[in-house]
Amino acid sequence: MCGIFGCVLHDGSQAAPLIHAALKRLEYRGYDSVGEVTIDGDKLTVKKDSGRLEEVHAKYDLDDLPGPVGVGHTRWATHGRPVYENSHPLVDCKSRIAVVHNGIIQNYLDIKRELESKGHHFQSRTDTEVVPHLVEDYLTQGMSLEEAFRKTVNRLEGAYAIVLTSTEQPKTILCARQESPLVLGIGEGEYYCGSDFAAFLPLTRKAVLLDEGEMAVLNPNGARILKLKNAAPVKRDPITITWDPESAKKQGFKHFMLKEIHEQAQSLRDALRTEQLYYDQFAKKIIEADKMFIVACGTSYHAGLVGSLALAKLAGINARVVVASEFSEEALDLVGPKSVILAISQSGETMDTLNAVRDARAKGATILSVLNVLGSTLMRLSTVYIDQNAGPEIGVASTKAFTSQIAVLLRLASTVGRRKGEVSAKEITELEAELHRVPALIQTILNTKIDEIRRIAEECDAASSICFLGRGVNVPTALEGRLKLLELSYVPAIAYPAGESKHGFIALIEEGFPVIFVAPKDETHKRIIGNIMEMKARGARVISIIEEGDEEIRNLSDRVVEIGESLPSLVTPLVYVVPMQLLAYYLSVIKGHDPDYPRNLAKSVTVE
Ligand code: AGP
Repeated sequence: MCGIFGCVLHDGSQAAPLIHAALKRLEYRGYDSVGEVTIDGDKLTVKKDSGRLEEVHAKYDLDDLPGPVGVGHTRWATHGRPVYENSHPLVDCKSRIAVVHNGIIQNYLDIKRELESKGHHFQSRTDTEVVPHLVEDYLTQGMSLEEAFRKTVNRLEGAYAIVLTSTEQPKTILCARQESPLVLGIGEGEYYCGSDFAAFLPLTRKAVLLDEGEMAVLNPNGARILKLKNAAPVKRDPITITWDPESAKKQGFKHFMLKEIHEQAQSLRDALRTEQLYYDQFAKKIIEADKMFIVACGTSYHAGLVGSLALAKLAGINARVVVASEFSEEALDLVGPKSVILAISQSGETMDTLNAVRDARAKGATILSVLNVLGSTLMRLSTVYIDQNAGPEIGVASTKAFTSQIAVLLRLASTVGRRKGEVSAKEITELEAELHRVPALIQTILNTKIDEIRRIAEECDAASSICFLGRGVNVPTALEGRLKLLELSYVPAIAYPAGESKHGFIALIEEGFPVIFVAPKDETHKRIIGNIMEMKARGARVISIIEEGDEEIRNLSDRVVEIGESLPSLVTPLVYVVPMQLLAYYLSVIKGHDPDYPRNLAKSVTVE
């Protein structure tokens, strides 16, 4: 997720200070590099670098670029490390065209090779840079800038919000979107575009929404929208934004955590977009290894547990999951030069995980990592890494990072399984197909279950403790539900493998004790019914997350949250965790806590 702002001002105005101020408002969308471009007649000026906005401003003075038209970008790296060359804007061979982009262009490598064969020289390792060069190529074929832009965008596959400016038409900004957000601002004879309303809210509250597959042409005559596929004009009335600037950053949600829970359909699609070549590189090293360990902390550790189960089921790989802070005591003696360590970390800066990785590297192990921050220390320590593409996760409680990690790990397990031939290609193809259905299923929960879950949270408010139980691949899901609830509501929650609960935990059960079961209709269904009955017989208040139409468990439960459609067991954690994320969020709010900043916690634990 990156932050974009563009503006077309009156002649004689200076765009740069407005762009700088807009990037400040957009910094929460990404902050590993930043850049601006302005157009002043036939002069195109770019200032950019890696680093935070104010660092780059201090170095280059981002208020001092000439011209009334310009575009700015604050980056959350997805392709290419956050270094100068990969910072946006990116330009064509002659520096007449500048582009910024938010999203992932999946077919960029093919386009890049085609353009290189025509003599185009690339300066970055980004997917974005194919855009200015492709527009340049179409311009040399005699197309207008607008047509060249439209033809370029129509060739792109993936998710994008793209903004282009050029000396070809110095008073014009062209923008287009597909999945990634982009909105237009209508000023007094001035026009803006931005990743969200926060970009231009202090300038105007009059906005026009750009829909999927549309582009817009902004110039002193106004903002014109057209369909990308056939250039058909689109008439759309402006809306008035009523949000204050702070809620605009949260896109109207009360907290970043709630916004990030609701982003999961999109962040999962993005997580599934990573090129297959990275999975193939991982799979090769895993298959060659004599031992494999997964190290992580907290939520990432729970994702690792799911990953380990998937590697066992789909690929016959024994990947031992170790809490990073215990790695040196528990596993380091077993690590050698043929070992593979898979480190999972949203921040890429968790000291316990980094220490485990450094210790393993010292013994010659291969380091693979799943991370969400390019340029992080973990990325630099890794032999190969996969970016989970979840975008910045601001809320301290990890939500979208968890589901995107699991999506990556399931795809990795199916890649290894396919290469090893442990599981039929048909079975793996089915799993991958189901994986692509998950975003829509999550969206359905977010669209239809909020009130039910909020009611359950209200009913749990008085509980002195709450327990989460699951079986098989949903033991980690229950552990994650517990972690979410305890770190946000400060209620001492418990989580267990459901079968293990009768070996001790069940002593806690008394009348009304809330027990939450993660109970999809998979191979564990019959046994978890037995566990539910054991708890019920002792007076527990049974809350079950079940598959729609599961009358058997519904009849045993005091409350249910139904998840539409049956899913392969391995995919269920992705969907069944969402009600528990929401439960933890609403219980935190009911108790008067701040879900974004829970007490005693930090977003990234960079100490031992
Ligand atoms: C999860 O909600 C917590 N914020 C915490 O457990 C977190 O998952 C853990 O600190 C690991 O962080 P990382 O993924 O950035 O390494």
